[in-house]
Amino acid sequence: MSDFDADTAVPVVGIGPGGDDYLTVGGRRALRAADVVVGFTSVLDYVDGHVTDRIDCSYDDQTARLDEFGERVQAGETGVAVAMGDPNCSGGQFVARVREAVGEVRVCPGVSATQLAASRAGVSYDEAAIESLHKRGDCVAERERLRAALPDRALVVIPLPWQTMPEDIARELLDAHPEAGGRDAIVCESLTLPAETVTRTTLAELADDAGGEASAFSDLSILVVRAS
Ligand SMILES: C[S@@+](CC[C@H](N)C(=O)[O-])C[C@H]1O[C@@H](n2cnc3c(N)ncnc32)[C@H](O)[C@@H]1O
Repeated sequence: MSDFDADTAVPVVGIGPGGDDYLTVGGRRALRAADVVVGFTSVLDYVDGHVTDRIDCSYDDQTARLDEFGERVQAGETGVAVAMGDPNCSGGQFVARVREAVGEVRVCPGVSATQLAASRAGVSYDEAAIESLHKRGDCVAERERLRAALPDRALVVIPLPWQTMPEDIARELLDAHPEAGGRDAIVCESLTLPAETVTRTTLAELADDAGGEASAFSDLSILVVRAS
């Protein structure tokens, strides 16, 4: 038996950051073998070529769509759920909802966009503080950990699209540590996708654009701050 077989547990497959090179061999096999694949439309679209029957979720209808998926799995169909990147990184809420709908799940790790961002920025993953603000709530603990880590470590941060964007994170960090303005800040967008863009600047320059009408970056962004 492989991690990717849908036997007693439904695999929740991490599809990687979007580019097909980063979908694991096992993940691809599980998608191709599945009768039905559930996930957010934005995720399913990246793996559409490997999927025959999909159930698309949006933030508004995910409970109903996951229930529909659960009913099909209960009826004997082979079901697989997909999550962006690695489900173990900022994907826990989706994994919990799939578990609620189907019972037992098995998380199949993928390559996280945070790994790609660290790689593009030349930062060792094990030495960085990695935090996601892409969750419900105000992320007080995550923000505090980022402020505490900044003097000594590199940071890899998943923003909250359209609410706490890379410029806002830079501003918060500089307010706590004004001496860190010269630190390298790298914003990685659409990693591994045709629109990939890597913007290299400093924390101070990035923070200058905080609080404006619109961010210069897309919702598919990760901020890396290099260690000094
Ligand atoms: C809910 S988090 C999920 C992260 C995912 N589980 C992972 O391991 O990459 C979604 C956020 O990840 C980031 N992200 C995902 N894919 C990305 C990509 N290809 N390029 C840049 N950022 C990405 C964006 O900040 C996006 O809003």
